[in-house]
Order: sequence, then C-alpha cells, then structure tokens
Amino acid sequence: MSMQLRVYVPDHPLVKHWLGVARDVNTPSVLFKTAIVELGRWLTYEAIRHWLPTLDTTVQTPLAECPATLINPQIPIAVIPILRAGLALLDGAQTLLPLSSIYHLGLARNEETLQPSCYLNRLPEQFTPETRVIILEPMLATGGSILTAMDEVTKRGVDPALMRVISVVAAPPALQKLGQHYPSLTIYTAIIDEGLNHKGYIVPGLGDAGDRAFGT
Ligand code: URA
Repeated sequence: MSMQLRVYVPDHPLVKHWLGVARDVNTPSVLFKTAIVELGRWLTYEAIRHWLPTLDTTVQTPLAECPATLINPQIPIAVIPILRAGLALLDGAQTLLPLSSIYHLGLARNEETLQPSCYLNRLPEQFTPETRVIILEPMLATGGSILTAMDEVTKRGVDPALMRVISVVAAPPALQKLGQHYPSLTIYTAIIDEGLNHKGYIVPGLGDAGDRAFGT
C-alpha cells in the first residue's frame, strides 16, 4: 500500500485564535512570540495523540492498587527546532515534553536563491531507531529548509513514519515536496495557505516569523 503525506489542521478555538493574533500585522513582537509559543503548545498536544508510546502498569493510590498508563520512559523523544523561528515554537512544546532532548538545527535561507544553508547542527551522529522526533518549523514555504532538516534526521537512522513536523503556516510547494520525498511523514499545522509571493513568502502568511518573534 503506498503512503500519502498526512497533514492535520486541528479544528480548535485556541489554534484559530493564536493564528489570528500572529497573522495581524499590528500585533507587537512580544504578543507575536506568545502566539507562536501557544501554537507550539496546542499543536504539540494534538501531534502526540496516538503517537507517543505508553506503558500499561499499575500504581498504588493511597487507597488501593489500580491500573495506570504512563509515557514509556524507554523511548527517546527528540525535539528539533529549526533556528531561528522554530525556537519560538519550542517553549510550548518543551512544556509538554519536559523529558525530551532538544537538538538545535540552524538553517538560513539565501534570500536570492531561496536555498537553505546549515550554520549550526547539534544533531547526534545517530539516533536510536525507535526515537520519536518532532521538528519545529513555523513556516513551510518553498520546502527547502524542512527537506534539508528531514534529510539530516533520516540519514541519522530515524524512520519518517515516527516523525512529526509542527508548523504554523504551510504552503502547497513545501507540502508537495514533502509528499514526494517523505510520504510516510505526518504534519500538524494551524493553516494551509494559498501559495508564495515572488520572494518566497507565504501569502497571506504572517510575514517573517523569526523577525517578528524576536523583534529584529
Ligand atoms: N519564512 C517566513 O518567516 N515567512 C514566510 O512567509 C516564508 C518563510
């Protein structure tokens, strides 16, 4: 059976609300950052449903022994923020997954060629094969950065089917490329927008996510 990229847009008032705040050009930088943190939190919450391995066990309450289901501590969880803008999604994601390991990946886009170049790579040489990986990249535009990130992670031993990408705004060119190269991948995003302008910005989008989150 052939796989097809799965893209989920959670139908949730908090996701819609914080997306609306982030899109508004009049939102100041501090509130924009808050909006992306909140989107990181709620999209991560949705993304780990049916995904994070649990362990059935028993616990002793003050009154009796009873069954309990806990997150399986044997399965490593890796969260990979793509710098810079992915850092803004990290706070919310890390709150939900405090035991995850964070691996930073710095990718800058050449504004003329739109090609990404890697200026920081803190990925391990190899991941253990059962590692669950979440990549944080708010803007899936041309697909250049996310494809580079996927290549770097999968060549270190992770099955794309065990990975989740969390974005805020996704555009068709990036989704098409991901579908071609990584059909077993699953994406969670707050919205899918129409397309890109001639500079590779998503329209209507929310502008430059890194600049707006960090006020630079
Ligand atoms: N990166 C951004 O920050 N915004 C876009 O619209 C596209 C790429």
